[in-house]
Amino acid sequence: MTVHTDASKYLDPKVSAFVSGKHEMLIGGKWRPSVSGKTLDVLDPANGKVIAAVPAGEAADVDLAVKAAREAFNGPWSRLVPAARAKLIWKLADLIDQHGLMLAQINSYECGKPIGDSRNGEVPFTAETFRYYAGWATKLNGEAMTINAPGDWHAYTRREPVGVAGQIIPWNFPLAMLAWKVAPALATGCTIVLKPAEQTPLGALYFGRLVEEAGFPEGVVNIVTGFGEAAGAAMSAHPDIDKIAFTGSTEVGKMIARAATGNLKKVSLELGGKAPTIVLGDADIEMAVAGASSAAFFNAGQSCGAGTRFFVHRKIYDKVMSGVAERAEKLRLGAGLDPASELGPVVSQQQMERITRLISEGRGSGAEIVTGGERAGDVGYFVKPTIISSTTPEMAVMREEIFGPVVCAMPFDDEDLETLAQDANDTEYGLAASIWTNNLGAAHKLAAKIKSGTVWINCHNFNDVTMPFGGFKQSGWGRELGAQALDLYTQTKTVAIRLP
Ligand code: NAI
Ligand code: MG
Repeated sequence: MTVHTDASKYLDPKVSAFVSGKHEMLIGGKWRPSVSGKTLDVLDPANGKVIAAVPAGEAADVDLAVKAAREAFNGPWSRLVPAARAKLIWKLADLIDQHGLMLAQINSYECGKPIGDSRNGEVPFTAETFRYYAGWATKLNGEAMTINAPGDWHAYTRREPVGVAGQIIPWNFPLAMLAWKVAPALATGCTIVLKPAEQTPLGALYFGRLVEEAGFPEGVVNIVTGFGEAAGAAMSAHPDIDKIAFTGSTEVGKMIARAATGNLKKVSLELGGKAPTIVLGDADIEMAVAGASSAAFFNAGQSCGAGTRFFVHRKIYDKVMSGVAERAEKLRLGAGLDPASELGPVVSQQQMERITRLISEGRGSGAEIVTGGERAGDVGYFVKPTIISSTTPEMAVMREEIFGPVVCAMPFDDEDLETLAQDANDTEYGLAASIWTNNLGAAHKLAAKIKSGTVWINCHNFNDVTMPFGGFKQSGWGRELGAQALDLYTQTKTVAIRLP
């Protein structure tokens, strides 16, 4: 399996100049280094080379950013009417589109994903998310209640912004995750301290320039780069942050929930997953093969909704699995910037080691590797697309979120929906699932039995800005996207008036 790690010739000189330039954080409308002067390195996951250094923000930087966000919240931002907020957010969406090529390259460079996925998927989705929430800014109304008590009353609710929102995002969809968090917060009138993942801060910093260009008042969007243990932890515990929104590991999600108890800030968490891909006996085989492959290998499996447990009816199991294996073996591995790459590296050495360790543990406990099963090449952080069979439910590969191009496959004989749902639900996660079938009755019945925030039928990893997304069980708290995300950033005030 050849791995194409050199993509330097595809790097636009403008992107190269931005990435290798000096990076500062956006705090209160000013670009500044970290208070400590410390920086952290950003690597190209296709070859492990350092491509940039960004400020390593810590508690002192978070303090400054929170102060700026508070001032903007109490000051200029709260004085803007909703229509003015909507205009600014819409303008930001237009700028994202105009800078689409640049953003896509930066994104693929720092996180390694194929450029087509950035350019045609993530970047337009990012712009679309801002546009969708621009529309909501002018539609956040309270309601009037009819009062039961005797006498004359007028009572109504107001939907007010929560205040200063701290937002901690991961590296797997750096721009989409930014949009899912920043856009509804802006629409509702919150101000923001955003911390991108330490692996992928560059897209967020470039986005900061667009925020400035759009003309947002200073301090509405503040961007602090830094490690989770320093900057992220300081945000979670900060007494003047009113709300924290997080996407990442379940382990860190729990830490954030604990840290948030100090001032009882509102918390929303979008955490790990272990999605089942359930292929019923009547499924269209070609569609199921393409869908299951993409469920497992899209974004090198680094997706919280990735389909990592295949349950396939025995009568089509061999056909489906040989189809998926054939696709896996044909995927062209290479740097994200290379337009021919179909599967990029995973984001870091740490992630690569975690994935290969989990695979080896599976092998050690009796699982069989159908294809892949190891690192690809010896440059960069590539992992061969991997299919594992003969697993048992207790194995770590079946229980833990692997977050790599790795899937466990199991045949089932009896299409009893209750048993299928039990197997699918045999996980502490509950983020997503997919069902492949032409039997509408079975699809809907099974969808109702599956304990997850999203159930896809004849599709997988399909996200639309209108559709709420989030987790049951240990996959998190709250729903992002759609109208439901507005609830994360608003609180209800009741006003009751006695009419004398
Ligand atoms: P992580 O949960 O440590 O990192 C995600 C974000 O949280 C980053 O911005 C990081 O700086 C921040 N963070 C880390 N420690 C923190 C702390 N103590 N307080 C506040 N913020 C903190 O995830 P990591 O280590 O990058 O990946 C480990 C595993 O997490 C992956 O293998 C995967 O299973 C899962 N993960 C899930 C994601 C999802 O989309 N649900 C995204 C990224 C990782
Ligand atoms: Mg971590």
